[in-house]
Amino acid sequence: MRKLWGGAFRKATDEIAWEFGRSVAGDLTLWEEEIEVSIVHAQMLGRVGTLSSDEATDITRALTDIRAAGPEAVDELAQQCEDIHDLVERALYDRVGAIAGKLHTGRSRNDLIAASTCLWLRRRCDELITDINALQRALLDRAESHLDDLLPGYTHMQRAQPITLGFHLLAHFWMLQRDVDRMRFVKDACSACPLGSAALAGTSFPLDRQFVASELGFDAPTQNALDTVSNRDFVADAIHACAMLLQHLSRLAHEFVLWSTQEYGFVTLDEAYSTGSSIMPQKRNPDFAELIRGRASRAIANWTQLMATMKGLPLGYNRDQQDDKPPLFESMELAFECLRLMEGMVTTAVWNLAKMKAACEGGFTGATALADALAARGVPFREAHEIVGGLIRQCEEKGLALQDLERDALRELLPDWDLDLQSVLDPSAQVAARQTYGGTGEVRQQLKRAREILGESERGSQRDSVK
Ligand code: ARG
Repeated sequence: MRKLWGGAFRKATDEIAWEFGRSVAGDLTLWEEEIEVSIVHAQMLGRVGTLSSDEATDITRALTDIRAAGPEAVDELAQQCEDIHDLVERALYDRVGAIAGKLHTGRSRNDLIAASTCLWLRRRCDELITDINALQRALLDRAESHLDDLLPGYTHMQRAQPITLGFHLLAHFWMLQRDVDRMRFVKDACSACPLGSAALAGTSFPLDRQFVASELGFDAPTQNALDTVSNRDFVADAIHACAMLLQHLSRLAHEFVLWSTQEYGFVTLDEAYSTGSSIMPQKRNPDFAELIRGRASRAIANWTQLMATMKGLPLGYNRDQQDDKPPLFESMELAFECLRLMEGMVTTAVWNLAKMKAACEGGFTGATALADALAARGVPFREAHEIVGGLIRQCEEKGLALQDLERDALRELLPDWDLDLQSVLDPSAQVAARQTYGGTGEVRQQLKRAREILGESERGSQRDSVK
């Protein structure tokens, strides 16, 4: 078959080289957007008189049919094509004959691939935000049911201070909120339309780039043709946002893995999200949480791959840029899959409230509260820290918890001690006392703020999807 670009060539491409460079199979992800971009380009060429209106109509109609028939209908043709641009043009040729060759007037595959990829990504950003919001909603609903259920908060993986499960789940909500913000940023990075930049310098045809941009739902055309065909920042931004999201999901996944061990026993994952062992009948393994943790490394690797690809490229289109798509598609797919899995896991997980509460009692998670109580009575905090440290040492020697200390032991240290030790150390009282904005004690107000933000985001996504 003749190549799109073969006019000056005397020799056929080496077969291995041809296969090495073909991207059509992966490109099919862009099927809808690629054809939509071409339809709008043809309509625009008709409007500015570069195509006759009959030509524009015939091409538009044929492209619409090709799109509706789907890539399956051109499966055989695809086997011989280099990329999706090649495939669509040949499919068009089969329907309308020689005028198919006019579609490529005033454009290049360089601006075309940038336009199709950018449009594809712009749409996926909205879908991904919707899916992040769904997981956020699941977290908030669970948080609401567990606003007062005690859980030890950890630093260095050592029990630190009591918090509640609701507060902990809310922490994951806010992490995801930053992912929503990042995806909005990515959408902004895809707000200008690359088409009309042609190979690198623009074109002598009187293209109406504003028309194309607005028909395709972009805000405006891009500003500089050379920058446009060289730019893959929006792809890197998307892959980075996915890597961050997966990093967050991986941390939640890790908590599920850790907390579902017998050693912690805080949570039981639903059987729908567990597997067994082929040899040990008692096993309930958190495989899917582990896989989310594992796949996060692929999302991170994809970002590294694209940055390594781009950093050495001079301006102008370079074929290396073709390799932006496999990591982009994989990272986005991973983000969608992991979000849905995690939503299911969060919704169905059963929390062992008694075990979480027991882990807050006894031991020394009340040490800070005791030091704070002394400091509130005028003892300099550093001194209060020392005093409580001394008490802990005594407890450790005697195998006691702070709660077990006799009033007298305290009076010895602090003659004017008037506090009820049990109420200072009561984990629920400790939680309730931490009322600072963002603290575990004001979790109800925080939940309200989170619900407001989520509601706005969900209404925003609805607006965007009707646009
Ligand atoms: N397949 C290429 C890509 O995905 C688009 C065409 C590039 N243009 C070219 N002159 N080879 O980036």
